[in-house]
Amino acid sequence: MASHKLLRAREYEEKTAKLIPDASRPKFHLSPCVGWMNDPNGFSWYKGEYHLFYQYNPYDTVWDSMHWGHAVSKDLLNWRYLPAALAPDESYDSFGCFSGCAVELPTGEHLLMYTGSRKDGNTGEEIQTQCIAVGDGLNYKKYARNPVLDENILPEGLSRSNFRDPKIWREKDGSYRCVVSACGQDNLGTILLFSSKDGFEWKYESVLVKNDGRFGLMWECPDFFILDGKHVLITNPMDMIPDGYEYNNRNGTVCLIGELDDEGKHFSYAYHHSVDYGIDFYAPQTILAPDGRRIMTGWMQNWDNSRLIDRKGRQWFGQMSLPRELSVRNNRLYQQPVRELEQYRTNKVEYRHVFVEGELFLKGIEGRTADLEITIRPADTERLYRKFEVNFAQDGQYRTVLSFCPHESVLKMDLSFSGLDKVCVSQCQCKVSDRNGELKLRIILDRFSAEVFINDGEQAMSVAVLTDVSAEKISFNAVGEAIMDIIKYDL
Ligand code: FRU
Repeated sequence: MASHKLLRAREYEEKTAKLIPDASRPKFHLSPCVGWMNDPNGFSWYKGEYHLFYQYNPYDTVWDSMHWGHAVSKDLLNWRYLPAALAPDESYDSFGCFSGCAVELPTGEHLLMYTGSRKDGNTGEEIQTQCIAVGDGLNYKKYARNPVLDENILPEGLSRSNFRDPKIWREKDGSYRCVVSACGQDNLGTILLFSSKDGFEWKYESVLVKNDGRFGLMWECPDFFILDGKHVLITNPMDMIPDGYEYNNRNGTVCLIGELDDEGKHFSYAYHHSVDYGIDFYAPQTILAPDGRRIMTGWMQNWDNSRLIDRKGRQWFGQMSLPRELSVRNNRLYQQPVRELEQYRTNKVEYRHVFVEGELFLKGIEGRTADLEITIRPADTERLYRKFEVNFAQDGQYRTVLSFCPHESVLKMDLSFSGLDKVCVSQCQCKVSDRNGELKLRIILDRFSAEVFINDGEQAMSVAVLTDVSAEKISFNAVGEAIMDIIKYDL
């Protein structure tokens, strides 16, 4: 039987979600059924569909009273809402059902593992534990013996106030492992590894890896997997200090690539980089799809801006990134939009060898739901152009600018003129591979976002673009002489 709090959330969704016009939402990115969304949770394949849950406050467009929202999809793009799955209705999760994951049990049931957060009645201290709920893909029952991991299992010195975001996986022998974030008095993120035979009773294994002070403070929402022969840890350092062109978005996502020791207990990394160089990408989760692809989706927002952006009149806030296919090449994480997107492409418009000097509009190249493949190169290989710009979400007043300076190999996104009325983070940049002024971009626009995949997925840059959708012009601008090939599809 669903609790009063969960029923209330479900009734509220039922009543209010239908009042939100489809056209006011992203077309193929998941947004909350109603209200607020942050991290993706419980991303899994279950009973023939992808399930994606999310951190959710149905009642307002601000963070509060974390529930788990729920949606399913057969192709990762066309999502159908299911009723909210979890509400903060137990003493151990009364401050919120925080982030977590999902896995299918041999019984055919769907197990959710999440962080139950509560406040100490006397001191107000936040206490975080790991909890379980089991269900059938629609209704979930919290485990009678929750929490399954609490402060008693924490190694000495680690704080019960920062112990969250379990990510579980199944080993070949059928047993389970999970990683959970923690930190001690030094505030430095520590990723703990636990094991379990059945998914319910957990044993502490080791400190998988600890932040040595190079990557911010606490590490949130870890994900750990093996891909193309490498071990990969993705995590989200809080309060990161930019390092050259890396980690510019501060509360962003880092990818550490390395090896697990023979005992399977300690991870050491040799390579690291930002997972996404845009402003809006956080707390991603990956799954292993039935066809063997490792697919990742993240929250396409950032904490700093989400507290500032005006949401008067908004009925939803927050969206997920496009699910992306991952691979590891040259010790980097490559990302490409899931191939399922290709079946949504229509109205192909193509121009080849377009000479660009100054501003240029091209017939048929416009829109806010589009898939653009652009290659830029110098008109004269001896003389690089100075700058190339793609302007989009543009009208007489507003625009978002993606600009590339080949002399520095730097790509920048600027949302300063996109209509933001607060002092939000509005610029981001990354250093791309130097290819003598040649740059390959794939830009996916979906009403309120732009995701840029650079040089065949070597880097990605994602931003939420809240400009009114009537601003749909796209233009190009070169300082110097450039040549462009472009293919555009409507989505
Ligand atoms: C990351 C995060 C998680 C936490 C959740 C709460 O964005 O802070 O660490 O579980 O959000 O909503």
